[in-house]
Amino acid sequence: MADKVALITGAATGIGAATAERLSECGVRVAVCDINEEAGAKLAESIGGIFIPCDVTDYDSVQAAVSSCTDQLGVPDYGHLNAGIMTVPTGDDFLAIEDVSLEQYKRIIGVNLDGVFYGLKALLPVMRGRGGAVTITASVAAFGMLPIDPLYSATKHALVGFARSIAGANEGGSVRVNVICPGVVDTAIVPDSFRDAATIMPPSELAAEVVDLLENGANGEVRAKVTGKSAFVVPPVDVLS
Ligand code: NAI
Repeated sequence: MADKVALITGAATGIGAATAERLSECGVRVAVCDINEEAGAKLAESIGGIFIPCDVTDYDSVQAAVSSCTDQLGVPDYGHLNAGIMTVPTGDDFLAIEDVSLEQYKRIIGVNLDGVFYGLKALLPVMRGRGGAVTITASVAAFGMLPIDPLYSATKHALVGFARSIAGANEGGSVRVNVICPGVVDTAIVPDSFRDAATIMPPSELAAEVVDLLENGANGEVRAKVTGKSAFVVPPVDVLS
């Protein structure tokens, strides 16, 4: 992977940061994109990458980040569309769906769905000439229920169908689009009630899967990874043929 370029959203902390670190260890030059300027700039300096302030809810900001990465490091070979939030900040009480405000609804849709659409819309046209891969961070919440945060689960379900459909539309193209669905990873987003020392995964363990998906993952692959178990591919249910 030496001399490749990667752009990662939500890269200042957690899974994105661990992926940035692992990619840079593989010789990849990384553009760390995030709204958290302090942590993002610090990480970028420590891995010899660059920090680009980027709010994934704003298409102009995402497009500017892709342009800035291209100007400073080169056309990205890899994109990791990873920025994501839960409906309420970590530590706040979860809300019954009828108590979620319209602003909270628009915020989670803005980060978790708009952010991925904007990322693909900005990245795919510039990446097609060189080829490469985009890995989207969904969640195992894409396959089951998450009663504490139905909107989070809805966005992650949506990402799986979205990515599979894009991959299908781009079959045979130069850019592979695939998905990582993590179990519980030890990051700031995780509610205390999910912090079970026996099942929580270090971000580095998950980052290894993301890097493998970027390098080797199939177009349309949806890969789940929970701690202590080998990652596995989640096949689509084909109901239309
Ligand atoms: P995190 O909170 O450490 O990382 C999220 C990053 O996204 C932060 O650096 C934050 O500043 C950034 N971000 C938030 N809003 C943004 C915006 N508008 N524009 C740009 N960046 C923004 O949490 P974590 O766990 O690393 O989350 C990364 C992804 O992994 C998310 O999509 C999350 O839903 C997903 N995930 C996390 C799991 C876990 O157990 N930690 C499990 C499954 C999925």
